[in-house]
Amino acid sequence: MSSLISESEIAAAVQAAVEKHGKNHDALIPILSEVNRAFGYVPGEAIREIRKHLYDPANRTYVAEGQLYALASFYDMLSTKPRGRHVIKFCENAPCHVVGGKAIWDTLRQRLNLENGETTPDFKWTLVTTSCIGLCSVGPVILIDDDIYGNLTPEQIPDILERYE
Ligand code: FES
Repeated sequence: MSSLISESEIAAAVQAAVEKHGKNHDALIPILSEVNRAFGYVPGEAIREIRKHLYDPANRTYVAEGQLYALASFYDMLSTKPRGRHVIKFCENAPCHVVGGKAIWDTLRQRLNLENGETTPDFKWTLVTTSCIGLCSVGPVILIDDDIYGNLTPEQIPDILERYE
């Protein structure tokens, strides 16, 4: 999708997000989230647009570009790179790990031929790790888009992935 997004689409999405959430620093995460929702990630052009909108004429200051990239990189729900149509989030924390998380992670990596943060060449899948999503009692856990899968075994992974064919 990335190469198909025009500058005017990005400008319009940023403008709408800024109008909705306001021109202040507290709104940075909601603005970035709106843009991420619109395009599946936060394009670099959107970062530049957000800076323009949040320019503070009184102090003649812009939000630092690095700050925006840091925010967009820090949160699991945001990405600065195009993601696949389906994003698999694997919980990597200890409670899931001790009940077999590593075998799930290895199966996903091998099956999709991806490492953490990578996307398949056809942009179907992105695989990322995430921290605890509060479902430790049914670990190991993965999220595919908004679908939750718990009590996983490696044998279940092929069937689950096929549901998204
Ligand atoms: S540790 Fe995996 S959901 Fe809590």
